[in-house]
Amino acid sequence: MLKFALVATLLVLVQGSRNVPQDPNRADLPTVYEYFASNGFNTGLEVNNGSTLFSLNGKPLKIISGAIHYFRTHPDQWRDRLRKLRAAGANTVETYVAWNLHEPKKDEFDFGHGNNDMSVFLSVKKYIQMAQEEDLLVLFRPGPYICSEWDFGGLPSWLQRDPELKVRQYSAPYLERVEKFYQALLPQLVDLQFTRGGPIIGLQIENEYGSFDAVSKDYVQYLVDLVKSLGFNRTLLYTSDGVGNGDRGTLLDQLLYTANFQSNPEGNFDALLKLQPNKPTMAMEFWTGWFDHWFEDHSTVSTEAFGRNLEVILGEKYNGSVNFYMFHGGTNFGFLAGANSGNDAPGYYPDITSYDYDAPLTEAGDYGDKYAKAVEIIDKYELPKLSRPIRPAESTKKAYNPVTPNRYLSYADIIAQLPGEARSFVTNPTSMEDLNMNNGSGQSYGYLIHRKQVSTKNGSVLKAGPVKDFGFVLVDGVIQPSSFRGEGNDRYWINNEKEVSFENITEEWHNIDIFVENMARVNFGYAKDFLQKKGLPDGKVTLDGAPVQGFEVLALEFKTTWVNSLQNFRTTQNISALAAPLIVQSTFNVTGTPADTFINMAGWEKGIVLVNGFNLGRYWNVGPQQTLYVPSPILRTGQNTLTVFEQLKPGSQITFQETPNLGLHVERPVKTDYSPIKPNKNFNWGQL
Ligand SMILES: *[C@@H]1O[C@H](CO)[C@@H](O)[C@H](O)[C@H]1NC(C)=O
Ligand SMILES: *[C@@H]1O[C@H](CO)[C@@H](O)[C@H](O)[C@H]1NC(C)=O
Ligand SMILES: *[C@@H]1O[C@H](CO)[C@@H](O)[C@H](O)[C@H]1NC(C)=O
Ligand SMILES: *[C@@H]1O[C@H](CO)[C@@H](O)[C@H](O)[C@H]1NC(C)=O
Ligand SMILES: *[C@@H]1O[C@H](CO)[C@@H](O)[C@H](O)[C@H]1NC(C)=O
Ligand SMILES: *[C@@H]1O[C@H](CO)[C@@H](O)[C@H](O)[C@H]1NC(C)=O
Ligand SMILES: *[C@@H]1O[C@H](CO)[C@@H](O)[C@H](O)[C@H]1NC(C)=O
Ligand SMILES: *[C@@H]1O[C@H](CO)[C@@H](O)[C@H](O)[C@H]1NC(C)=O
Repeated sequence: MLKFALVATLLVLVQGSRNVPQDPNRADLPTVYEYFASNGFNTGLEVNNGSTLFSLNGKPLKIISGAIHYFRTHPDQWRDRLRKLRAAGANTVETYVAWNLHEPKKDEFDFGHGNNDMSVFLSVKKYIQMAQEEDLLVLFRPGPYICSEWDFGGLPSWLQRDPELKVRQYSAPYLERVEKFYQALLPQLVDLQFTRGGPIIGLQIENEYGSFDAVSKDYVQYLVDLVKSLGFNRTLLYTSDGVGNGDRGTLLDQLLYTANFQSNPEGNFDALLKLQPNKPTMAMEFWTGWFDHWFEDHSTVSTEAFGRNLEVILGEKYNGSVNFYMFHGGTNFGFLAGANSGNDAPGYYPDITSYDYDAPLTEAGDYGDKYAKAVEIIDKYELPKLSRPIRPAESTKKAYNPVTPNRYLSYADIIAQLPGEARSFVTNPTSMEDLNMNNGSGQSYGYLIHRKQVSTKNGSVLKAGPVKDFGFVLVDGVIQPSSFRGEGNDRYWINNEKEVSFENITEEWHNIDIFVENMARVNFGYAKDFLQKKGLPDGKVTLDGAPVQGFEVLALEFKTTWVNSLQNFRTTQNISALAAPLIVQSTFNVTGTPADTFINMAGWEKGIVLVNGFNLGRYWNVGPQQTLYVPSPILRTGQNTLTVFEQLKPGSQITFQETPNLGLHVERPVKTDYSPIKPNKNFNWGQL
């Protein structure tokens, strides 16, 4: 009976992959599943003492994998991206799992059928099944912490409501939450293990745990035991780390060690072989490019350096295996980009919206120079040699007509339409996470306003902060200049404390709004960096030195349902003459089949763009990113709605273009290990 089921599965698979148009030059070669599973799915991925190669079902395998995260690419584009990966000669796809999306509220799970803004992205099971349909094996990295330039490294923000809970540590309240999440996640996927006829050949335990300061082997063991007890007991388990961290984050006797690096493959693989002799060498994260922070230049890594390093990884000296991180980066939609911490002021470096990563496939899934280079080297070293699908065509891009919005909601209009649960009262300044909303999970993303009426005299000074992360003060609805340690005369500040002076403001009573944006929770760092509530968590507000208490607190989450319910728009002929913060709305028409496009917000300063209620992410004129990717599945034929929340100063027009502009390209010095990003010391944060 079991045998019959396996044969039936196999037939479907073989037909599935053969239905995809195949590269005629390789038509005589087998598909992945024809080669590895024609006799059934008996043994999984194995490490054989002394062999540089893995084996799968007893046959030698050099893993050639690419990272494509289901939560960074619209599901209607998954198949296209997977096929482009397979067409490069890769045999495997790797994905992380974003816990913060799958459990947006404590105990409320979403695997694609929820009512959340990202729900359509969340059928991880469908994604893994699709990988198999596209003739790929799967390396599965369910965290629970994933780093990945993703808010809080994928951890749900509400974990922080429990003061006893210590993330990534052997801390009972944390382990209890991990267990609940894995109980919801893993049983859906156990049948997708290779040994049960599915594509999953390996499962990663934690992520770069050796880079963490409060490491505990008990925690690693706990995760190993947990995934096994939930049925992942016939799949290779491994960890991935910068080899400079040695074995502090792993259990060498139970887990395969894989290495993360961008350059110096010899040094990294030699160190890996020292830690773990006679085993295959694998670069679990071979960094094909890099990500960007706001205020910095756009990083790129040369195709030449990429090719040179890949040649060593796959070449005969090591016969190593690789996972391109990223093969296709995609987008940090909404408020989901992560951040780095640093030692110098402001000690905080939020990431941009694009996760193009300078990878072989661009953010829009187009073929970059590195794609051709990867194919050239894979052709030389792939093992076994397998068939390939024909490369899918690139998507159509369109520059839709420019939009000149004439509908808006003023700041007061926006506040007036906030739902009841977004309004509360507190005695002392507070954090988003601690608000009593979202069924006891607090506010995860967006903006938080502390509102207070104060009596001032000429020369009064209001002090507020540190703001987490980006703040400004409005007095009677108008953004105020503020001073930073007596210098500058700017309007906003980041992760710091500032003063607003009431000189020459005569009226006695004023409405003060301390407006704070959560710019992203840090995704990489030490235990201290993972304590990161947003808003005014340890914030002080003083007026002429005396603490201010008793605030109305207003939470702006910008959830799709709320944005789509906004009404009573006003009209004007000149949006750019209006004061921010404000919401601007317009429509634009799409004729024919929707095409990919890029929105250019030149002339605007800082905010978010939503198309048909879907939050595409942040724009900010400090760059480097100049355009936002709009995947075609977000658009519809006919009328589409464009909504912009501008925090500082509106422009007048919004334009579309056919090509992205991620800013000035600057080649990064290649990194040898994964460590917190060095801040740009020449950048004067006081003069923003
Ligand atoms: C692996 O092979 C090496 C070299 O042949 C040998 O010294 C070692 O004992 C073997 N280890 C195991 C676990 O078999
Ligand atoms: C693996 O897990 C499955 C499902 O939980 C169980 O039936 C099986 O006995 C386990 N196998 C081993 C070797 O532990
Ligand atoms: C790599 O594979 C080639 C071809 O099979 C073989 O000649 C070579 O010895 C292998 N290298 C190592 C380090 O095992
Ligand atoms: C709130 O959470 C509880 C359990 O945590 C659940 O039973 C209840 O259905 C939730 N309510 C809503 C409105 O989601
Ligand atoms: C306040 O007004 C005085 C007199 O007009 C002027 O000299 C001073 O610069 C003003 N201060 C500010 C902060 O605008
Ligand atoms: C406020 O005080 C400043 C400095 O003492 C003074 O120059 C200014 O005229 C005052 N403004 C008003 C409106 O009283
Ligand atoms: C719109 O307002 C801006 C700012 O006040 C002004 O510079 C611009 O000339 C106005 N444009 C039109 C067409 O009136
Ligand atoms: C979009 O299409 C609608 C309905 O066909 C039409 O009324 C409207 O004028 C069009 N708008 C633009 C900007 O072309």
